Amino acid sequence: MADQFLWVIFPYICIAVFIVGHIFRYRNDQFNWTAKSSEFIEKKQLMIGSLLFHIGIIPVIFGHISGLGIPKEWMHAMGVNDHLYHMGAVYIGGFFGIVTLVGMLILTARRFTIKSVRRLSSLSDLIVNFLLLLIICLGMYATLVTNAVQPDFDYRSSISIWFRDLLTFHPDPALMSSVPLSFKFHILSGFLIFAFWPFTRLVHVWSVPLNYVGRSYILYRKNRTF
Ligand code: HEM
Repeated sequence: MADQFLWVIFPYICIAVFIVGHIFRYRNDQFNWTAKSSEFIEKKQLMIGSLLFHIGIIPVIFGHISGLGIPKEWMHAMGVNDHLYHMGAVYIGGFFGIVTLVGMLILTARRFTIKSVRRLSSLSDLIVNFLLLLIICLGMYATLVTNAVQPDFDYRSSISIWFRDLLTFHPDPALMSSVPLSFKFHILSGFLIFAFWPFTRLVHVWSVPLNYVGRSYILYRKNRTF
């Protein structure tokens, strides 16, 4: 019963809130659809922390897509055997995980030690901050510690299959029953952030100004009439 809730009902609730919440926010609150920059209060720590976080999280997302989305057998067919995959996941995944974590620690320290940034933070900012830090720490623990302590555990034979089945609407919670706790907490907190996502500054992810790269320059000229 608990497994059914944790590995079927809970993830679907989070996904549903994620989708419906975005539609609701987009229709009702476009004016506040923003990353709520606090750059005008403090620049230096924000630049370092935010840069490290984003440089780390993007490869981590691609790592998740390949580790969870691509079946093991397909990897074998592409010439990536288990050892090679594991090395890549631990060393490359671990490296970018650390970069993400350092960035997140700088951003958290900035939010809590600079008085005006702290005052400007809403409850949703604090929840996002806390959840991101928790998810990243648990992910790092699972990658660097659990994988080393329990080398026989292979998440691509359990978590990844469960995850793909979830996306195709026939999840089997039994696949998650023998998964180590660090992975379980990581995944549950990972889903939780998807439920909070539409109500937080994370919506800015869907508004990346890609046209910025190719758009024409904006020219500023002196007003000579004064
Ligand atoms: C919700 C579904 C999620 C699932 C099923 C999931 C699953 C996993 C798994 C299996 C690993 C271990 C990778 C390895 O050892 O090779 C991992 C690691 C990690 N995860 Fe997640 N995760 C999820 C969400 C998230 C989210 C939302 C974040 C970021 C905010 C995140 C950040 C990380 C980090 C930083 C690592 C360690 C570095 C790495 O291996 O790339 N995960 N995750």
